[in-house]
Amino acid sequence: MTAVDSQRMEKIVSLCKRRGFIFQSSEIYGGLNGLWDYGPLGVELKRNLKNYWWRMMVHERDDVVGMDGSILMNRAVWKASGHEETFTDPMIDCRTCKARLRADQVIDKGKGRQCPNCGGKDLTEARSFNLMFKTYIGATEDDSSVTYLRPETAQAIFVQFKNVLEVSRKKLPFGIAQIGKAFRNEINPRNFTFRSREFEQMELEYFCRPEEGMKLLDYWKEERLKFYENIGIPREHLHVLTVPDEERAFYSKGTYDIEYDFPFGRQELEGVAYRTDYDLAQHQKASGKPLEYFDEETKQKFVPHVVEPSAGVDRTVLAVICEAYSEDQAPDEKGKMETRTVLRFHPRMAPIKCAVFPLLKNKEPLVAKAKEIVHLLRPNMFVFYDESGAIGRRYRRQDEVGTPFGVTIDFETLGEKDLALKDTVTLRERDSMKQERVAIADLPKLLLSRIR
Ligand code: GAP
Repeated sequence: MTAVDSQRMEKIVSLCKRRGFIFQSSEIYGGLNGLWDYGPLGVELKRNLKNYWWRMMVHERDDVVGMDGSILMNRAVWKASGHEETFTDPMIDCRTCKARLRADQVIDKGKGRQCPNCGGKDLTEARSFNLMFKTYIGATEDDSSVTYLRPETAQAIFVQFKNVLEVSRKKLPFGIAQIGKAFRNEINPRNFTFRSREFEQMELEYFCRPEEGMKLLDYWKEERLKFYENIGIPREHLHVLTVPDEERAFYSKGTYDIEYDFPFGRQELEGVAYRTDYDLAQHQKASGKPLEYFDEETKQKFVPHVVEPSAGVDRTVLAVICEAYSEDQAPDEKGKMETRTVLRFHPRMAPIKCAVFPLLKNKEPLVAKAKEIVHLLRPNMFVFYDESGAIGRRYRRQDEVGTPFGVTIDFETLGEKDLALKDTVTLRERDSMKQERVAIADLPKLLLSRIR
């Protein structure tokens, strides 16, 4: 098990707020437990992650198409999927401090059950608590108008399976991908955004023949591990847990949890599950509509099986931030060493790709050239212009939000010192702090090759 580093986590939470990554939802009213808002930089990071997932899972493949389902669906969906009956966590109340606890949070060190909050031993028996948020459709609030905010995006894919199959004309194996919000009334949201009540999922349902299921389960586990490495989470910080038989959903023939070493311990990032034909078969039975696939080669009809890599957007964003957070020693303006906070994001994930700095803000030709460069780069990447403060301070501010590249426009750019350096700039790399002289005309291509 990994060591818990609460001090590191506190620094990360504080940086997230201070620099506009993540705020508490409804903060001015005291917040709301388990709900978070993404600020100007957080939204960029989240978008970069979703776009890269979509690129890898949909655009760069021939066998996957996308969809975007509604959050509210017919209640019958949740009955057929089993969520209405069984999407529950066992809950225990502490009669002393009134805490509501998930049963697995109750401590039992051999001296009887204890509340993790107050140490009290006066606890209720466990009872089932359904995690779905209930709501009503239309003007009447009675049993006939009940539905739920979706607790996973997957069900929309299953119930649209036939439509998507027909319009895409795909052959097995093929997948349907979706990114969207999901809601769970978690008993105890915690660890910052890790366990939230509103979050986003990136899910792929990959339909296949029954005999391909186990092989594809391993294939997708490997693909997903590669994905995390490609966004800057090294393999040695990822762990694959083979979910034991007794903990797997009864319909699953195999499930892997991909886990990450967060500062608060090793926790699940994504589940990769072979769900057999359970979901399609349930919906076929409940709706009375055929959800079968006709195999032209064998002339047989059957309900496809499915392998599902299901990742959390918010958890991955948090993992990317935790992985990137670092402190090192760097010289200040006067050469004195100071602690530098750096988010070492993979350039592909970084919210701002390049910061542009005129050396001095009161020298019009420097400012004009800097703005020219901003316009040159903007169509291809998110660029930030900053003219205020000493150049060293400006670098530090960008290091702290993980901007991988900084471009400085100085008098050499104007050709005032050496004509050979006219229209060149200093390109500074965040992690090494190394600087190179680059022609302005080469900047877009060079930067694009490093951030894709
Ligand atoms: N369709 C399968 C499914 O929903 P899950 O393991 O319950 O499986 C998949 O959820 C992923 O969704 C998790 O691995 C996690 O990344 C994310 N997730 C689940 N509950 C979450 C919560 N309360 N807060 C943030 N992310 C959550």
